[in-house]
Amino acid sequence: MSNKNQLVIFDTTLRDGEQSPGASMTKAEKLRIAKSLEKMRVDVIEAGFAIASQGDFESVKVIAETIKDSRICSLSRALDKDIDRAAEALKGANASRIHTFIATSPIHMKYKLQMAPDAVVEQAVKAVKRARSYTDDVEFSCEDAGRSEIDFLCRIIEAAIDAGASTINIPDTVGYAIPDQFGVTIKTLLERIPNSDKAIFSVHCHNDLGLAVANSLSAVANGARQVECTINGLGERAGNASLEEIVMAVRTRSDLFNVETRLDTSHIVPSSRLVSTVTGFPVQPNKAIVGANAFAHESGIHQDGILKHRETYEIMKAQDVGWHTNSLVLGKHSGRNAFRTRIEELGISLESETELNKAFAAFKELADKKHEIFDEDLHALVSSTTAASQKDRFELVCMSVNSETGVMPVSKVTLIADGQEVTKEASGSGPVDATFSAIETIVESGINLQLYSVNNITSGTDSQGEVTVRVERGGRIVNGLGADTDIVIASAKAYLHALNLMEGSDNKQHPQGDV
Ligand code: KIV
Ligand code: ZN
Repeated sequence: MSNKNQLVIFDTTLRDGEQSPGASMTKAEKLRIAKSLEKMRVDVIEAGFAIASQGDFESVKVIAETIKDSRICSLSRALDKDIDRAAEALKGANASRIHTFIATSPIHMKYKLQMAPDAVVEQAVKAVKRARSYTDDVEFSCEDAGRSEIDFLCRIIEAAIDAGASTINIPDTVGYAIPDQFGVTIKTLLERIPNSDKAIFSVHCHNDLGLAVANSLSAVANGARQVECTINGLGERAGNASLEEIVMAVRTRSDLFNVETRLDTSHIVPSSRLVSTVTGFPVQPNKAIVGANAFAHESGIHQDGILKHRETYEIMKAQDVGWHTNSLVLGKHSGRNAFRTRIEELGISLESETELNKAFAAFKELADKKHEIFDEDLHALVSSTTAASQKDRFELVCMSVNSETGVMPVSKVTLIADGQEVTKEASGSGPVDATFSAIETIVESGINLQLYSVNNITSGTDSQGEVTVRVERGGRIVNGLGADTDIVIASAKAYLHALNLMEGSDNKQHPQGDV
């Protein structure tokens, strides 16, 4: 038996991750991600900020009622109404946690809260006690701890533990910390706070200086026993510490870290793909652990070394994080059972037989156009078939594009818009531009296109193109995603996906906004 300490993995992809502009997710998407996190054996899933909106409340509720093997947490400011709403959403959970927070840095207390430090301590204590009246698992966070005074941190944390908090979280909210210094802060808190042994100390690092993972690891080396992180490092601004990097760092360098996690790391890559396709945030190819090139060896010297002895250039096994060496999966003649088995092997969970049938029909259609279907194709295919919900306002019926040298491209698009079939055509500087204009002549959405990007999902010219568009209207941002072997059709699908999401997205409160 190992004598290492357990490092609690607290995933906040569904809460802090969703605070990335454009990363909003539907209830069904959040549930799918929560199931994937549960399979990975994540200890705590922060499912949302229940008071933010009715949609957030319902997401926390359904996740709390469905997930059995991970603890489900809801964020709440240090306010009675937030805590009550969190408790209500968490009622059906097997194991729940209320996470309450208040800002502790001089700048936040003075300008955001406009409260004196004594009043902040009083409010924190009151909030922890109220949360304890609902559950014995209460986490207290000192927002902007990275810029807070150590004496004040010691004072408020001691009071929060006395009031019943069993986890104390030290967020570097604005990503200001530097690894050595942050490690010293954690060590000092553990040493100076008289009741520090009554709580687990946690960290929550943002990546504004690209140091979120380094700061989290330094904190772990200095006694932190919970890390808050997100899949693919998704999160506000430059993101949060990435779950996959933290988990694989403590595992790969177990010679340096006296901790271990419960995680089944083989679910890392499927979860990464799922989060990327659901949010429309692509994973850069050179991203550690989950990037397409993370285990690819381009140079001849490296390939030679790897063939002689894998460990010459590889410190982890690709299979351990869920990359499959045999990624050729299915072809035109594969049946429904083979399809279902491969989907399950990839860790993709489909909600119902109807979803499976839809995905299988799309697979057959793709297999007619493309001989070899790879794992990556399946991830994209499932995401794009499940992205289209029953209530979509706009649906692509068919389209054709005329593109020839010296002539302005023209696109003709037929949509179902609010139940009516409409066909329009428009020209543009290229086929995609013409297609978006044709769609706009039908929908007149008034949105601004902020980003357009195409990735080929596998290699080869018969590969599916995966298009991401980011659009904005009235300050609200959403990402749309579409995949097809024809990139103009993929673009139209992505644009319509964004339009449909824009219609459905709810206006929610930001937890760190005004109180
Ligand atoms: O970054 C932060 O401070 C947070 C808290 C609400 C924990 O996300
Ligand atoms: Zn945060």
